[in-house]
Amino acid sequence: MSTFQAPKGTYDLTPPRSATFLAVREAISAPLRDSGYGYIETPGFENVELFARGVGESTDIVTKEMYTLTTKGGDQLALRPEGTASVLRAALEANLHKAGNLPVKLWYSGSYYRYERPQAGRYRHFSQVGAEAIGTEDPVLDAELIILADQAYRSLGLRQFRILLNSLGDKECRPVYREALQTFLRDLDLDEETRRRIEINPLRVLDDKRSDVQKQLTDAPKLRDYLCDACKAYHEEVRALITAAGVVFEDDEKLVRGLDYYTRTTFEFVHDGLGSQSAVGGGGRYDGLSEMIGGPELPSVGWALGVDRTVLALEAEGVELDLPATTSVYAVPLGEEARRVLFGVVTELRRAGIAADFAFGGRGLKGAMKSANRSGARYTLVAGERDLAEGVVQLKDMESGEQTAVPLTEAAAELAKRLG
Ligand code: HAM
Repeated sequence: MSTFQAPKGTYDLTPPRSATFLAVREAISAPLRDSGYGYIETPGFENVELFARGVGESTDIVTKEMYTLTTKGGDQLALRPEGTASVLRAALEANLHKAGNLPVKLWYSGSYYRYERPQAGRYRHFSQVGAEAIGTEDPVLDAELIILADQAYRSLGLRQFRILLNSLGDKECRPVYREALQTFLRDLDLDEETRRRIEINPLRVLDDKRSDVQKQLTDAPKLRDYLCDACKAYHEEVRALITAAGVVFEDDEKLVRGLDYYTRTTFEFVHDGLGSQSAVGGGGRYDGLSEMIGGPELPSVGWALGVDRTVLALEAEGVELDLPATTSVYAVPLGEEARRVLFGVVTELRRAGIAADFAFGGRGLKGAMKSANRSGARYTLVAGERDLAEGVVQLKDMESGEQTAVPLTEAAAELAKRLG
């Protein structure tokens, strides 16, 4: 093992690939920022209780995957495995829901932690950009979020993703279905652990990937047949709104999701180039979560898109993001005096908002020009003793290769003009 190794299931983002991650976060959040969502940031850890009650005592996330710790002061904390419970907790704490402006629309971006078995696309530390719209029951809101996620992915150039849509019913109809499903499942030939799951979270059994289990599930009662009229009407309205927006989706009755708080609308964005970890994003409505964590009734809806998997999806599709070079001007000093003078010009450029970098360490012309090329700068400024004596710098257009002598005092203004 090398001395320098990130913990199992994690990886570092380093240049140049890290630029893609930034661009993905930017692209996912841009449609949210343009649609009235305000930025929220919460701590990387919370009291364990919040996730146990919010995400659910029966979920894998809480029972197997949470990084928990006891502080020296005796507090039981958990690194956040997801963002929804934290964001709702923060909104309630700040009384955002009482400002008379519902829904409270929030977006976030950050690191999440799940002690999962690492594999391609599944990490113990990963990053999400998410959105939550708190306090309003309105199918337009569900539609808005699905449409904005679709818009975000399209703006990145992703094409091979699909949207799976389902309704999980509400507190009226889901319990009736749950019981019918349990009665059906109890008669099947299943192992002990799955039998336990029937009692705690029977819908998750439908999600079992094993073929011998799936074979027995063909005649399982369908949630669709149990949805109450209000849930049916709500779901039809969401479907109609996203259809009208030209967003293509697939109805997927088997879509259960791994968190307990969902009601009614649930959806997942899957990408076919990713193998088994195909979900690039997911979300849905969680009308009961606020009450589950001790708050008032606040019907809400949201999603989180996985940044890591979105980057993998871009790579799988061969999409190259058009990332503009971060440096516009690269300065190459030849000699002590030139170093001081050109660094002055670079500082002036930066203060004028022009991205500029510098060949540090007194390197020779050849090596420094290599760095200039690598930086992607449109222009280089080169100056040696003779140039300084004449009061000029050499300004080279890296695209055309054309080089002109420019008076030192006018270099910054000339570059500002050329770069528009
Ligand atoms: P989730 O489906 O658990 O939902 O996670 C959302 C996305 O985060 C996944 O689709 C995936 O892209 C990414 N993700 C999850 N776990 C991992 C992992 N171990 N490695 C890499 N990526 C991962 C939620 O977290 C909900 N809070 C979404 C939501 C918001 N629902 C309502 N509002």
